[in-house]
Amino acid sequence: MKPVANPARPAAAALRLRGNDLMQIRRAEATDEEALASIRRRAILALAVPAMSREQAERWAARGAADRVARAMREHDVWVAVEGAAVGWVEVDRDRVAALYVSPSCSRRGVGSALLTFAETSIRNSGYTTARLESSQNALDYYLRRGYLRCGFADSDGAWPLRKDLAAVTPTP
Ligand SMILES: CC(C)(COP(=O)(O)OP(=O)(O)OC[C@H]1O[C@@H](n2cnc3c(N)ncnc32)[C@H](O)[C@@H]1OP(=O)(O)O)[C@@H](O)C(=O)NCCC(=O)NCCS
Repeated sequence: MKPVANPARPAAAALRLRGNDLMQIRRAEATDEEALASIRRRAILALAVPAMSREQAERWAARGAADRVARAMREHDVWVAVEGAAVGWVEVDRDRVAALYVSPSCSRRGVGSALLTFAETSIRNSGYTTARLESSQNALDYYLRRGYLRCGFADSDGAWPLRKDLAAVTPTP
């Protein structure tokens, strides 16, 4: 169940990406649903292949797709990266990063890292000392380079359980 508004959770942030582009991170709103669903589908199909087959990516994109974003917003905390329009989003369920997607046309510019750091700060501000997530094969090295460690074997969908000690993540005031 989604907790009531928690003052420990950041509401929004403005930051500069490498290259000096200005990006805002804000809470998702109901009107974002279609854009976020589209980012999810395009990110999976364009960025997860060839670490997995096109068929596997199609299955992932289709999984729970009908109300995937609405459910995330209803049950968890969802933040959107905005550069004029939405370019990525992250979902946090207590101590777990439950989703991270960046529009393929905006990938490799630091948007995903900014969203991940924002999510980790939120988790840390909620009182957890460790962040958890399940990484698809295509994103495994990405998370390992950002301080996550394997804490089990991949499941039948090829998702690796990872965790990160948040001691090094500075809490926001
Ligand atoms: C994984 C994902 C969220 C990463 O998003 P992203 O915005 O491309 O991530 P970043 O730009 O922060 O980092 C990606 C790479 O680009 C590099 N990069 C970032 N800014 C850059 C810049 N200005 N110039 C060149 N390279 C840059 C980063 O160093 C990073 O490389 P590294 O992992 O070798 O360090 C995105 O690829 C995605 O949506 N994938 C499909 C869905 C998915 O797998 N989600 C995770 C599921 S568990």
